[in-house]
Amino acid sequence: MCGIVAYVGPKPAYPILIKGLHRLEYRGYDSAGLCLLNGELKVWKCKGKVSELEKYIEGENLEGTIGMAHTRWATHGEPNQINAHPHYSQSKHLSIIHNGIIENYLVLRKELQQRGYTFTSDTDTEVLIHLIEDIQQNEHVAVEEAVRIALTQVIGAYAIVVLSQDHPDKIIAARKGSPMVIGIGVDEFFVASDATPIIEYTNNVVFMNDEEIAIIERHQELKMRTIRNQERTPYIQRLEMSLTAIEKSGFPHFMLKEIFEQPHSIEDSMRGRLHLDQDTVTLGGIRDYLPKILNAERIIITACGTSWHAGLVGEYIIEDLARIPVEVEYSSEFRYRNPVISEKDVIIAISQSGETADTLAAIELAKSKGATVLGICNVVGSSIARATHAGVYTHAGPEIGVASTKAFTAQVVVLTLIGLLLAEKKGTVPESHLHKLRLELGLIPSKVEKILERANKIKDIATIYKDRTNALYLGRGYNFPVALEGALKLKEISYIHAEGYPAAEMKHGPIALIDKYMPVVFIAHKRGIYEKVITNIEEVRARKGNIIAIITEGDESVKKLADHYIEIPDTEEMLIPLLATIPLQLLSYYVAVMRGCNVDQPRNLAKSVTVE
Ligand code: M6R
Repeated sequence: MCGIVAYVGPKPAYPILIKGLHRLEYRGYDSAGLCLLNGELKVWKCKGKVSELEKYIEGENLEGTIGMAHTRWATHGEPNQINAHPHYSQSKHLSIIHNGIIENYLVLRKELQQRGYTFTSDTDTEVLIHLIEDIQQNEHVAVEEAVRIALTQVIGAYAIVVLSQDHPDKIIAARKGSPMVIGIGVDEFFVASDATPIIEYTNNVVFMNDEEIAIIERHQELKMRTIRNQERTPYIQRLEMSLTAIEKSGFPHFMLKEIFEQPHSIEDSMRGRLHLDQDTVTLGGIRDYLPKILNAERIIITACGTSWHAGLVGEYIIEDLARIPVEVEYSSEFRYRNPVISEKDVIIAISQSGETADTLAAIELAKSKGATVLGICNVVGSSIARATHAGVYTHAGPEIGVASTKAFTAQVVVLTLIGLLLAEKKGTVPESHLHKLRLELGLIPSKVEKILERANKIKDIATIYKDRTNALYLGRGYNFPVALEGALKLKEISYIHAEGYPAAEMKHGPIALIDKYMPVVFIAHKRGIYEKVITNIEEVRARKGNIIAIITEGDESVKKLADHYIEIPDTEEMLIPLLATIPLQLLSYYVAVMRGCNVDQPRNLAKSVTVE
């Protein structure tokens, strides 16, 4: 949450910063701000999106080759101009941008007020810049040392950048719990919340670790220390990410581009892992932990949102194939209850961004109890990827739309591969069945392609239902998580209230909602508990609900029962979520666009939830 970008080098900073803010806007878009250091520190900020900021600063003198910028997702203080970042120190000689939460800000604020500091905003961030200035003035130390001392006094999560008027060539950056990447170019440096604003200029990056401070100075080597004042050698990595991967490439929205990328992203998530020629699966990232996983008494999957839905599919797959008990936990609940975890447990943390604060905390809890923790992440080098003992990247490519689409299918692919690998090693499933599953998994990309060709039909259905205020999504077995995911997609981007339920649960409450105004989306694939789902469809029909059914190609009986149907190819039962999710993503996309919603940046949401 919140996007940070900073630059120092020979080029004008403003174009780099504003472009960087546009690339980071998916992280938060309540307000935006910019600071350029050109003789003095100049700050411009306003409520709203980055485009508002651009209008706001039109005609200003934006010269300077060092600066920083911020796009905000509000935590403390409403989204307005005053609370937007950057924030000045009292003397206006220092300025800060921040992503995270300073939990003890009220205590610090009171102390600073008693020492004569005046606060202009309601943010926790302003406390930090006053504190840094206070330390600098009282202890007569360099700005980086003042930052370091200040950070020993704060509790919470942060990624910060500080500029000082007295050090016109220096950027100080620090992180704990919130991501930060430094890009190293030729005689220039970039700092950002993720690599997207950087890769246009350089592929050489340093992912900062928790409690590290970077001292970034023009014409100097990058220096790093910890907040305990130990020197650190920066570990420079080469990042493989193409520019087209983070651009819309002709699509009106990132979400649509990412939906249509799925034949490729699914293929990428299997590449080098599913070996059809040798009839086997390998997962290099968890190879060393395989004995531990095979002997696990239990697997606990922990995640949030869409990743949690993928985890539910994973539970069904792993139990089905490998016969290891699996539990799926919301990270936010798991971290705060008192779960029974032992060293015989294996935890799988799933996260697209690899930065979700609750999932990170769940990982730390599990590690502290001696469990083995594996990660399934999309963002290479992310905090979760580094906090886990081992893991498997989903390789879906950058996902920019706030609504998760291709990350979900890639997560399900990885969980399927884990299930197949464990079953193969444990001998829990006849080889002939595993062979069939592997073959079918290999066919999924072309089947997704076929569904995408039906986008126009889905658009027509969206036209009919776009003005409804509620929707129900029902599925059973492997398709129950699909129902949950379909409902989440609709509500988060179109603001239509939607609920996902196991179809049979309908009779225990939700059936009361059904009338002629209620669209009910059924995932009614021929495999699994098909007849029971047909009964559930009849029950909705009897109450005049409007039925939209996701059906197996050529299934004439459901066609007769449904008001509308979307056909998907046949496949093995456990692979249906990889197909059935696609039309639901498209349905929510078209409904949201027709309602005039900002699909890529839905209200109140952010792509990467780095606060709890
Ligand atoms: O980055 P993560 O996978 O950890 O994110 C988890 C959720 O915040 C995320 O899936 C969220 O629910 C999406 N907006 C869903 O589309």
